[in-house]
Amino acid sequence: MHDDLAAGGLFTDSRDNQHTLGAEGKLVWPASEILCQYICHLSHTHPNLFRGKKILEVGSGQGLVGMTASLFSSSPPILTDYDEDAIELLEANLSRNFKDDDAGRPITTKLTWGDEKSMDDLSKKHGDHFDFIVGSDIVYYRTAVVPLLQTVRRFLTPQITRKVEEGSVFILCNQRARLCVNHDLFFDTVKELGLHIEETNTSQISLDSFLPPDKIPLEKTHLFLIFRQ
Ligand SMILES: C[S@@+](CC[C@H](N)C(=O)[O-])C[C@H]1O[C@@H](n2cnc3c(N)ncnc32)[C@H](O)[C@@H]1O
Repeated sequence: MHDDLAAGGLFTDSRDNQHTLGAEGKLVWPASEILCQYICHLSHTHPNLFRGKKILEVGSGQGLVGMTASLFSSSPPILTDYDEDAIELLEANLSRNFKDDDAGRPITTKLTWGDEKSMDDLSKKHGDHFDFIVGSDIVYYRTAVVPLLQTVRRFLTPQITRKVEEGSVFILCNQRARLCVNHDLFFDTVKELGLHIEETNTSQISLDSFLPPDKIPLEKTHLFLIFRQ
């Protein structure tokens, strides 16, 4: 691990690549900052929660969330996106933050939500089960809502107790305004796919981290725990 990462800093190259990427892949989106905070919070309240667990990030973009998760897991998280330019940028971000031989260096791979071949390829390489699936600001394109939830369902294992500490949970952080326009479709699909959703109170998240509190848009953000029943 690079010294800067060990010291608590993560680099992302966003602006240099704006000319090569679509709008969504070129930014670190606001919900990702909240999700990073929540991952740090969980790892304080439940030490070892992520240690040795299988972690999948969907719609990674710049990869800040997956890189943060890697700080608390001894096995490499799998960071995915469907945009090859985004994956290239993601690899560059990983190179800035990890050494090639770091055991916890995240692995990147292409994953297109709802695409059977893409999901089969991920299964072949990394198995059908993940303990944690994480995603930030990924509910926005209406046509992607159903494929996203189908993908998440496929890689979750049914969980009866609905406790985050027992794993197989999708932790989704999303700007309210973006989810709002897809509200009915999102919640209807959650129900149709046999998923259980609960909202987590963001006020529990400690804000003593790398962002000033007034820059963290807590009140504009949903934080959901989603389990497969
Ligand atoms: C708004 S960006 C959020 C990126 C990152 N999670 C963040 O919070 O900074 C959404 C990401 O989802 C990816 N994405 C959108 N549709 C997708 C799909 N159908 N399959 C896989 N990835 C997709 C985009 O390429 C983009 O990187």
